Amino acid sequence: MKILGIESSCDETAAAVVENGKTVLSNIVATQIPFHTMYNGVVPEIASRKHTEWIFPVVRQALGEARLTIDEIDGIAVTNRPGLMGSLLVGLTFAKTLAWSTGKPFIAVNHMLAHLYASHLAADIAYPYLGLLVSGGHSIICKVSGFDHIEVLGTTIDDAVGEAFDKVAKFYGFGYPGGVVIDRLAQNGNPKAARFPMPAIDKQNRSGSADAKFARDNPHYYDVSYSGLKTAVINQIDQFWNPAFERTPENIAASFQETAVRIILFRLFRAVEDTGIRTVVVGGGVASNSRLRALLAAEKDLACVFPPPALCTDNGAMVAGLGYQYLARGETSPWSTIASARVEGFRKTGRRSS
Ligand code: KG4
Ligand code: ZN
Repeated sequence: MKILGIESSCDETAAAVVENGKTVLSNIVATQIPFHTMYNGVVPEIASRKHTEWIFPVVRQALGEARLTIDEIDGIAVTNRPGLMGSLLVGLTFAKTLAWSTGKPFIAVNHMLAHLYASHLAADIAYPYLGLLVSGGHSIICKVSGFDHIEVLGTTIDDAVGEAFDKVAKFYGFGYPGGVVIDRLAQNGNPKAARFPMPAIDKQNRSGSADAKFARDNPHYYDVSYSGLKTAVINQIDQFWNPAFERTPENIAASFQETAVRIILFRLFRAVEDTGIRTVVVGGGVASNSRLRALLAAEKDLACVFPPPALCTDNGAMVAGLGYQYLARGETSPWSTIASARVEGFRKTGRRSS
């Protein structure tokens, strides 16, 4: 079965054709980065307009590179959640219209499940495993027991990890997208130049009494927080800087990146310990971070799987691969499927769970 996958949840207009959930026949990503760079971040209105302009040529190119016509496609999969509403709507409406007008099966998929599936395009991975989903919008530690079945153990209570990279880079004028620039600057910096604090959201037990030890029954035991780190790097850097080091962009980047990566790995290692699951599959844009990869590679008793770099950031191949799995099970989505900016449980923004 050959599935056309369409992705437009943020700032990449992407389409791909994947055969039997495994073989990538084409993978076209039209990045809008140059259009958002001058604003140091994604401007939703510009993103939707570019998707509208590009979606048709990108899909046509994906079919062309796979040397297929639309008649030879067995199903059309698209991201319908979570993401920027206006951006999601373009891909979803296009995919629905194409599927309806050609009489093809239509499958709407969850973007974060697609990020997890990216690794399955390049390797055979057995369930269950722990998923580490790190992107511009999400920081999720989950137990994965099937392509469509995850149990979220921990998530962010405020900013996502990629968002923290982007905001720090924006403040210091390092460039855009922040994660890529900070990763590059950090190669020539010293992570010991500043010692930023780790969040302590997991330090109290359920009764609320302060406990010297981290409390396993704390509802935030696997959760992360990045707003404190962001504030420390942006507003309180003097407080945490080691005066023995020069305040260079490289040193700021390296110190921030070290803490950002360790915050989430600390929680991930707790989940490994508690579940006994020793396979970790990483997905999302931050999965290409070199420090995250190095620290995970150093964990010799863990089997860590990363998608190939081209499949870390948003792409249509992961959407097509995941779509195939639903279709192989005989499932399609109704025409009434709508776009959703959020998915329940993926973020705890604005509320503290108890
Ligand atoms: O998955 P993605 O393309 O889009 C979302 O679903 O959000 O992830 C984009 C995020 C951005 O925040 C970007 O700064 C971050 O991934 N990113 C990185 C790196 N490459 C991209 N963060 C850290 N290190 C990188 N090398
Ligand atoms: Zn993404």
